[in-house]
Amino acid sequence: MKKLLLINGPNLNLLGTREPATYGHETLADISALCGRAAEEFGLTVEFRQTNHEGELLDWIHTARGRCAGIVINPAAWTHTSVAIRDALVASELPVIEVHLSNVHRREAFRHHSYVSGIAVGVICGLGSNGYRLGLEHFAHLLGAHHG
Ligand code: DQA
Repeated sequence: MKKLLLINGPNLNLLGTREPATYGHETLADISALCGRAAEEFGLTVEFRQTNHEGELLDWIHTARGRCAGIVINPAAWTHTSVAIRDALVASELPVIEVHLSNVHRREAFRHHSYVSGIAVGVICGLGSNGYRLGLEHFAHLLGAHHG
């Protein structure tokens, strides 16, 4: 079984009630369940996590090295601020797919720059929770996992 780390940054624990016009009505638990179903379909194992503490996210990235086959990350607001997350992702030597629920390019200018995109395999944004599913599907192709 190919194992992926799927990590979510700050305020994403509030999904469902947080700006639903922008982020939709699904909760993080809904998205976690969707990712669990997708992982099973694509023959992957997924560790799904969220934190509001940047150091914790960095620790998870560090321990993924050699243990996971890739990282799916929605860095949330840290996308636009964190050199540390970019450096940790590079140090992991793992392929990375960046996901955003909203289309950040239709939003405020400060959301147009991502520290992660330049080191990612690819970026999915604006497709809501389906973006996570698509990220997992792409990893299944990259890793040659077997669809169930
Ligand atoms: C987000 C977009 C970010 O700009 C924002 O800070 C978030 C969520 C998204 O999933 O659309 O918290 O990453």
